Amino acid sequence: PDSIPSPPAYPIVGHAHTGVIDPVNSAQSYRILREKYGPIYQLNFYGKPFVVVTSQKLANELCDETRFHKFVSGALEQVRNGVGDGLFTAFHGEENWGIAHRILMPAFGPQQILGMFDDMLDINSQLLLKWERFGPDHPIDPSDDFTRLAFDTVSLCAMNYRVNSFYQEGLPPFVKAMAGFLLESGRRSQMPNVVQGFLRKENAQYEADMKLMVDLCDEIIAHRKSHPGEAKNDLLERMLEGKDPKTGRGLSDANIRNQLITFLIAGHETTSGLLSFTCYHLLSTPSAYTKVQTEIDAILGKEPIQLSHLPKLEYLQAVLRESIRLNAPLGMLSLTPSEDTIVGGQWEIKKGTRCGVEINGLQRDREVWGEDAEEFKPERMLDGKFEALPPNSWKPFGNGARACIGRAFAWQEALMMMATLMQKFDIRFDDPSYHLQLKQTLTTKPKDFKIHAIPRRGAR
Ligand code: HEM
Repeated sequence: PDSIPSPPAYPIVGHAHTGVIDPVNSAQSYRILREKYGPIYQLNFYGKPFVVVTSQKLANELCDETRFHKFVSGALEQVRNGVGDGLFTAFHGEENWGIAHRILMPAFGPQQILGMFDDMLDINSQLLLKWERFGPDHPIDPSDDFTRLAFDTVSLCAMNYRVNSFYQEGLPPFVKAMAGFLLESGRRSQMPNVVQGFLRKENAQYEADMKLMVDLCDEIIAHRKSHPGEAKNDLLERMLEGKDPKTGRGLSDANIRNQLITFLIAGHETTSGLLSFTCYHLLSTPSAYTKVQTEIDAILGKEPIQLSHLPKLEYLQAVLRESIRLNAPLGMLSLTPSEDTIVGGQWEIKKGTRCGVEINGLQRDREVWGEDAEEFKPERMLDGKFEALPPNSWKPFGNGARACIGRAFAWQEALMMMATLMQKFDIRFDDPSYHLQLKQTLTTKPKDFKIHAIPRRGAR
């Protein structure tokens, strides 16, 4: 087998702390690496290898679940400190993953998500009202308000709990604690344990952030248990009542709490990123902006949005698919081979090696998307073209059994938000010369991106 290309490394640390991966903008670092090293390269952090693939051909091999499986390592392993065996961070083969997966899959099924329409619209209307009151002259940070939207939506739909972030000046304490926790988890994954022990202030803050999240979710569970009359057919109820069809077992309170925090983490930054990038791409591509607004006007007119509108918004759906193709909020799928294996017919990867599918590379592979792969063109997602893509070309929601359980949830929320937003407002860049920059915690979002929302004349 051929050796996998690798950038020059330092002794001991390898590529850690060398600037090869910028911790606050790793998406940009991975872009530079892919442009230099192509479809496969290897990094090492303190002697631990990390093989990254960036092409559809290789990603297709890594997405074969008979050969590779999810590998909870790096920042994700640190996130376990706060959410343990929740679905997102459960180790491959961990028993509680199977139990929770079987109980929760039906709870995220299409009918259940349709049933969340009213709660989603409730929060959605709060954002629209806020923007209306700001008026056309006020620069809006869409990422912040989409974070509020996604966070309030997931907590209302999952556990009937109102965070009311639109009624608070700053972000709610839970959101701040979570952001701190995620950032610190990422930092810890790059830090040897010996050093970590000395960082007393950081460690105390980390503990406090985790405690705040745990306490709130424990309180919500305790409240529900002591007020059974308030039960709603929400995710919390399903977790409290549900039995695994295979083992007959239910979920423990600790595991339910882990799942709740997991949904709050997994469900808010990702969706918020998708919405922010979508605004950015529409503003940068006036032809797509006009087309999507024309579609929304034709289907919704001045009526309040209804469930029946959603499947008709085909161009908007293509816009979202294309936006998340160019800017996937979660940029890396972490996998490992179950046995020693050879990929691409020439590169050997040993069992247990940490591997990554770099989603932004994959989703810009010229062999799949053509020479205009870097351009925003929703048309490539229309008229059966999306369905006809080569396997595993578009993976913003992950792979196989470990793919995103909240995909339909996020999609409905995003369709509703963009449709109502463009029905009621025209949006404009605050700074017309703005070029996309990225900022990152566990997920990627646009940096310093501000817009104006101008109420449309005659819109309701
Ligand atoms: C898993 C992306 C929204 C809950 C994943 C994975 C990706 C992803 C890439 C796989 C991660 C991996 O392989 O390590 C996204 C994106 C979203 C989104 C791009 C929005 C646009 C949501 C929402 C929820 C959610 C709204 C919950 C309400 C989860 C959970 C998992 C997961 C629980 C772990 C599934 C498992 O391993 O069993 N998501 N997600 N996500 N997501 Fe999402």
